[in-house]
Amino acid sequence: MKNLLSLLLAGLVPLLLRAQTVGPITVETRNSVLQLTVSGNKRLLQSYLGTKLPATELAAMSGGREAYLTAGMENQFEPAIRMVHADGNPSLDLRYVSHKSSGAAGSQTTSILLRDPVYGTEVTLYYTAYENEDVIKAWTEIRNTEKKPVLLTQYASAQLHFNAGEYWLTQFHGDWAREVQLVEEKLTNGIKTLESKLGTRTNFYQTQTFIVSLNGPSTETSGELIAGSLAWTGNYQYTFEVDQREGLRVRSGINPFASEYHLQPNETFRTPDFIFTFSAQGKGQASRNLHRWARNYAVLDGNGSRYVLLNNWEATHTNFNEQRLVELFDEGRKIGADLFLLDDGWFGNKYPRNDDKAGLGDWQEDRSKLPSGIGYLVKEAKQKGIGFGIWLEPEMVNPKSELYEKHPDWILKLPNREENYGRNQLVLDLVNPAVQDFVFSVVDDLLTKHPDLAFIKWDCNRSMTNAYSPYLKEKQSHLYVDYTRSLYKIMQRIRARHPKVPIMLCAGGGGRTDYEALKYFTEFWPSDNTDGLERIFIQWGYSYFFPAITMSAHVTSMGKNQSLKFRTDVAMMGKLGYDIRVNSFTPEEVAFSREAVATYKRLSDVIWKGDLYRLVSPYDEPRAVLMYASEDKRHAVLYHYLTTPRRKDMFGRVKLQGLDPAARYRLREVNLIPGTRSTQPDNNKVFTGEHLMTIGLNLAPGRANPLTSNIYELVAE
Ligand code: DGJ
Repeated sequence: MKNLLSLLLAGLVPLLLRAQTVGPITVETRNSVLQLTVSGNKRLLQSYLGTKLPATELAAMSGGREAYLTAGMENQFEPAIRMVHADGNPSLDLRYVSHKSSGAAGSQTTSILLRDPVYGTEVTLYYTAYENEDVIKAWTEIRNTEKKPVLLTQYASAQLHFNAGEYWLTQFHGDWAREVQLVEEKLTNGIKTLESKLGTRTNFYQTQTFIVSLNGPSTETSGELIAGSLAWTGNYQYTFEVDQREGLRVRSGINPFASEYHLQPNETFRTPDFIFTFSAQGKGQASRNLHRWARNYAVLDGNGSRYVLLNNWEATHTNFNEQRLVELFDEGRKIGADLFLLDDGWFGNKYPRNDDKAGLGDWQEDRSKLPSGIGYLVKEAKQKGIGFGIWLEPEMVNPKSELYEKHPDWILKLPNREENYGRNQLVLDLVNPAVQDFVFSVVDDLLTKHPDLAFIKWDCNRSMTNAYSPYLKEKQSHLYVDYTRSLYKIMQRIRARHPKVPIMLCAGGGGRTDYEALKYFTEFWPSDNTDGLERIFIQWGYSYFFPAITMSAHVTSMGKNQSLKFRTDVAMMGKLGYDIRVNSFTPEEVAFSREAVATYKRLSDVIWKGDLYRLVSPYDEPRAVLMYASEDKRHAVLYHYLTTPRRKDMFGRVKLQGLDPAARYRLREVNLIPGTRSTQPDNNKVFTGEHLMTIGLNLAPGRANPLTSNIYELVAE
């Protein structure tokens, strides 16, 4: 008997061991790989993240750090997840159960199921690898398998681990009218946190994008780094924890601040996506990876086209009438704009919207300003050969409004406290399904009633304070998460009925710029600051993560000390539009702008869909140089902006990038003021790509005048 048992065991043990050994799990793109392995005790480890290695090298990578750290047991670093079980046990023990992979066009998704052996909690880590774009999308699903609710107090989308000599963090901090200012610093031991607690928007201190360079600061063309961004239009948090052995843990997810989440039995919490790219060729490559991924997979109509629009905000603010608007259609036509966008101030009756103090929430035409209604304007615009778009701020309400009077319970406000206003307004309780129906129908009614309405600008002019949802009652800690989810629900309903209409996302400037929003919005408004000099820096900052096709850039009268050409050249780096009194233009300025719009339209495919190369940073020199090159390298657009040069500054030649060394390109200055000639001695000459990339061009041949600019086109012959 004893012999039989030992015989059986001898046969079974190797079998069991074999069954228990799980090979490495690799998430691969063309040039990078994330490898996970399962330890002897079934913990999931990140054993490698970096440049793609030959299979034999990868196979040798074992061990590593726990991929998704839990709280409450032996881990003492920032956890990716913290859960309190129904019985009050505040710990989670996650062990590998299984993994699988499935493919879709251009991408491969790997999911890894982990389970707590005692409590049954299931956590599935997902990684979608976009092969050609070198981008990985990571998210997590957490399922409560208990019979009673559990509490989640931390629920990261992903955690990544690094072992390098040094880590340099690039963050993009900002404020209203000063968005995405770039700062790069060495991470020291301890925890650095980047986050937003603003609820409806993110731009108080920084946008939700970052770059971590390994072993020293990366440049545009060299160095290893990851560039990451959370696709979430609400409170986010990144922690960068450098431990006592110089290991770095990067945790990315929703900000758990005031957001403990009660998960019901069988309910699954899905985190937002964390998007990242690993580049071994510096920041420029990382941006190109993200731009391509964004156009191909993330942004609504990312490879489509966009309208050149004329907005009336700067020209009229809320002070206009029907006749003035119709005149503005003609002004738009004069410069070749495709669409006229009617901004704030067109609605409100009992409380007319003559400034930002009243009317918000009452989305009926103000009959004193627009007696013939929106329908008339849409028709009139069409007759004049220009599209018509409209501004909305549907998540908000002024206390001076009929909406507020009718539905005081639809508003986020604390009981027993005074209302707290931002721009004289309050935030609607989007979590309430009745409010969702209202917001949906504001948009749906307009688009249904006016099928020719061609564009919407969706604004959001305040953050949340005194955040309390009358609808959520005792579940207040769900507010920040559920508000954002409710916004998505509304957008899904809108898109189901109106899949194509372009919608610009604005949040008092660039308060909302993220890749989840861009699934529903075709473009964003980067900043209310449209001064040309400021915009160079702001657009430069966004360019690290967002392609030009998403970045609205308008020529306005801000920065009047700058020539119209300079402001136009700056706006032509993004998605060109206008927000200016065209009737104050001289005939020469009209002619210039008309020509500029035509040139922009001719070059827009390269600008929107080309590869971006940042050549000289305005943070390094008193100028900025960048270029877009088409994928086939036959066509490129080169921008040169002199910002604040001193009188005798000398500038070196600029080496171009992204061209075909063997091709011969003709250089031609475009967007010249009619009647003037290029002062570039190399204008109209032909150069090989090799010459342009190794010898370069002298882009400031004459005196370097502040706030001047040139745009060149390069066409392979
Ligand atoms: C803030 C936006 O950023 C502006 O462009 C404009 O639409 C105003 N809101 C209107 O209130």
